[in-house]
Amino acid sequence: MPIVVKNLNYTYNPKTPFAKQALADVNLTVNDGEFIGIIGHTGSGKSTFVQHLNGLIKLTDGEIIVNDINLNDKKVDYLKLRSLVGMVFQYPEYQLFADTVKADVAFGPKNMKLPAEEINSRVSEALKLVGLNEEEIGEKSPFDLSGGERRRAAIAGVLAMKPKILVLDEPTAGLDPMGKREILQLMAKIRAEQNATIIMISHDMNEIYENVDRVAVFVNGTIKHDMPTEELFQKVKIEEYGLEMPAMAVIKKKLSKIGVDINGRTVTEVFSEIVKAKGGKNV
Ligand SMILES: Nc1ncnc2c1ncn2[C@@H]1O[C@H](COP(=O)(O)OP(=O)(O)OP(=O)(O)O)[C@@H](O)[C@H]1O
Ligand SMILES: [Mg+2]
Repeated sequence: MPIVVKNLNYTYNPKTPFAKQALADVNLTVNDGEFIGIIGHTGSGKSTFVQHLNGLIKLTDGEIIVNDINLNDKKVDYLKLRSLVGMVFQYPEYQLFADTVKADVAFGPKNMKLPAEEINSRVSEALKLVGLNEEEIGEKSPFDLSGGERRRAAIAGVLAMKPKILVLDEPTAGLDPMGKREILQLMAKIRAEQNATIIMISHDMNEIYENVDRVAVFVNGTIKHDMPTEELFQKVKIEEYGLEMPAMAVIKKKLSKIGVDINGRTVTEVFSEIVKAKGGKNV
């Protein structure tokens, strides 16, 4: 079942001098198994929007249905909602607090009141999935890990709840290129192996261009564009919203002007297409 959001509005501190409308008439449908990117200038409402999806921000105006859970119902089962929608916040490593990595990853499944055996097997599975060695780091304090490891431990904590929908708010922010690649590979793996729906907020247009199927562009609290990735960057002047064009999209646009049409979106794909177009062998 998809996620359906209709006419969503949200105001922080309503009816006070500090009232701030953060969302204005947001409409979005996300289908099962989709990998959708959310982009937009700072303060455009991206985080406010995604925090509605797992009930972290309570719905006040509009309609939201997540799978079979209707957030407009009088009694919403938030425990069920939070195990359905896993949320990875920006800099999630700051939320690690248990004495050991294992205990931290076990926190979510424990809240779900799963039997101990199931919790243990989920912790092992999640650590393996994010590429952390349980024997090596399981009993360590989360504070003794490197930045990238800590980020992966935090993501493991969310994955251990086996969410069908994974929402990530700038999951690669502040990581080095290698760390970024690892997180993106992990997301591709989760999607392939668990058929999860993934919603990713990012300020990195190259990362968005290379990884997601579809992009929603937030402008002043509303979704101004919602299109397949390639179409968006070829048709919409995203610079007008303070966003940068992905490097590969710029190259393709320029080549297209001189009659060379290139397929693919990753650096490797685009460059081997260019070599082919020049009459060379595939690289
Ligand atoms: N707790 C809050 N109280 C009051 N206003 C807030 C609060 N959180 C966010 N806002 C305001 O709501 C608007 C949308 O904020 P939001 O955090 O959703 O933006 P964003 O698109 O995620 O930005 P960024 O890219 O910087 O993370 C901004 O104007 C912000 O200042
Ligand atoms: Mg944000």
